[in-house]
Amino acid sequence: MSMSGRDEERCEQELGQLLDRSRLPQHVAIIMDGNGRWAQQRGLPRVEGHRQGAESLRTMVKACVEYGVPYLTAYAFSTENWKRPPDEVNKLMQLLVEYLYNELDELHANGVRLRGIGDIKGLPEQAQKALTEAERKTARNKRLCLNLALNYGGRSELVQAVRRLADDAVKGKINPDDIDESIVSSYLYTSGMPDPDLLIRPAGEFRVSNFLLWQIAYAEFWITPVLWPDFGRKEFLEALVEYQRRERRFGGLNVCSG
Ligand code: IPE
Ligand code: IPE
Ligand code: MG
Repeated sequence: MSMSGRDEERCEQELGQLLDRSRLPQHVAIIMDGNGRWAQQRGLPRVEGHRQGAESLRTMVKACVEYGVPYLTAYAFSTENWKRPPDEVNKLMQLLVEYLYNELDELHANGVRLRGIGDIKGLPEQAQKALTEAERKTARNKRLCLNLALNYGGRSELVQAVRRLADDAVKGKINPDDIDESIVSSYLYTSGMPDPDLLIRPAGEFRVSNFLLWQIAYAEFWITPVLWPDFGRKEFLEALVEYQRRERRFGGLNVCSG
């Protein structure tokens, strides 16, 4: 089912009117999945799906800046994605470097602060270099914090946090009795950031694939069959409007008026 450009625009406008800009999620997390299937459906090599996926990320970043969503975390490469054929892994790393160099000026001009989250030291040198440069250049930007999850795994993140916590305890910097949820959070890559309010998963899988395991404790999930390369402003608006219809109870009771 495809929509003409004009229908799509009208749909976006209608959704835009439904959106309450005072109740936006403070942090949106996205599992950018379905690139391979998108390419396969078109008889293209998988890398073309990844290339188009980078365009979707570009659209999302712009939309977050425009609507005023302050944190966006995008899952780009998991600790399990190394299991893929070396050729695909290499192309993904090349694309990452291209993305970082091509987008840097625009990200910076739009007030975006870019950060890599994950086991960054495990990435190829070139990717680390591009990332460090992008992080340094955008470090003082405040409009949107864009976390790119690279060589990221929720379990691996917890392991590194536990190691550092244990090390600080051994050194006497922290008393084990003082360890609480906020201290654990502060040892994660997302230290100082709000937890995601909304988790978006394109391409229709009903799983979290080792993404932000601690942080999504009370995130609202929105899953769509739309593949990531086809994911645009319309889909994002749909997710935001649906998010605003959800009743978030955080384990409490719903608050009824009257
Ligand atoms: C997501 O798309 C990108 C990465 C995991 C790097 P996939 O490559 O997983 O696409 P599908 O799931 O095979 O369609
Ligand atoms: C999740 O997608 C990881 C990223 C999008 C980077 P995968 O395609 O790797 O996840 P599974 O294998 O379907 O769970
Ligand atoms: Mg996938």
